[in-house]
Amino acid sequence: MTVHASGPIVLIGAGNMGGAMLAGWLKSGISGADLLVIDPGPPPAMAKLIADNGARHVTMAPADLKAGVLFLAVKPQMMGTVLPPLKSLVGPETVVVSVAAGTTLSFMQSHLGDAAMVRAMPNTPAMIGRGVTGAFANGAVSGAQRELVHNLLKVSGPVEWVETEADIDAVTAVSGSGPAYVFYLVECMAEAGRKAGLQADLAMRLARETVAGAGELLHQSPDDASKLRQNVTSPGGTTAAALNILMADDGMQPLFDRAIAAARKRAEELAG
Ligand SMILES: NC(=O)c1ccc[n+]([C@@H]2O[C@H](COP(=O)([O-])OP(=O)(O)OC[C@H]3O[C@@H](n4cnc5c(N)ncnc54)[C@H](OP(=O)(O)O)[C@@H]3O)[C@@H](O)[C@H]2O)c1
Repeated sequence: MTVHASGPIVLIGAGNMGGAMLAGWLKSGISGADLLVIDPGPPPAMAKLIADNGARHVTMAPADLKAGVLFLAVKPQMMGTVLPPLKSLVGPETVVVSVAAGTTLSFMQSHLGDAAMVRAMPNTPAMIGRGVTGAFANGAVSGAQRELVHNLLKVSGPVEWVETEADIDAVTAVSGSGPAYVFYLVECMAEAGRKAGLQADLAMRLARETVAGAGELLHQSPDDASKLRQNVTSPGGTTAAALNILMADDGMQPLFDRAIAAARKRAEELAG
């Protein structure tokens, strides 16, 4: 990937998410020379990746630098202390990107000034390049900056732009927290299988591979989820018997409505 930024991509925090992004950028062809990592102590694997690819690593913001992209990947609770010394890195051409859950643009503006800013919400499968990210750009982000940020985010999976910052709370509830719902689905299927007479470890292997395989089928197929469901549901068959329970008025839909509403409300509370 070619970077048309007016300065280096400066990554703040090379932990789980920042490290996954950094690995993706290097894999996509971004030169280490275009990257500066600021982290007081990156994990050893990250330190090696940075060194092996000729990227720069420092522990504090250099005084005389303006970032092309300032990419924030520290814990939300660190933002209050991390942001103030970064203000000097933000110039008129800088676009700031944050993946921190619950950290609002107005909070970032209060520390960094009225810069071009993107608030993004990736999810955990980003670690294997199979995430999905929701992103919101403020009015100061130019078309070229948006394209650049899109290209940086898409190394971890598809990027979906939303119209309002409040939509990020709904994105958080659906895809940000979503992987946990799927992991819990595996647990529920395995437990139900155990109650149906299977050994617990066998039930878990069957549930795990079923969800992983169905997810991969969904990923590879051009059909949508409801078509794939209908394809495996013979009238009067076993799948239909189970779906009659799951799709009843008191089945999964109202449960998911409540779960996602609760997650969205919590995201709003955390954003303040
Ligand atoms: N993990 C996910 O799946 C996920 C999904 C969506 C969004 N996010 C967001 O991504 C952000 C990072 O999460 P994470 O799981 O990657 O956290 P993490 O693994 O703890 O990574 C944060 C990194 O920032 C470093 N750091 C601490 N203080 C710093 C400072 N002053 N300057 C620069 N770097 C500093 C940390 O170093 P130390 O370890 O030495 O403190 C660590 O290497 C969070 O805001 C989270 O909301 C994560």
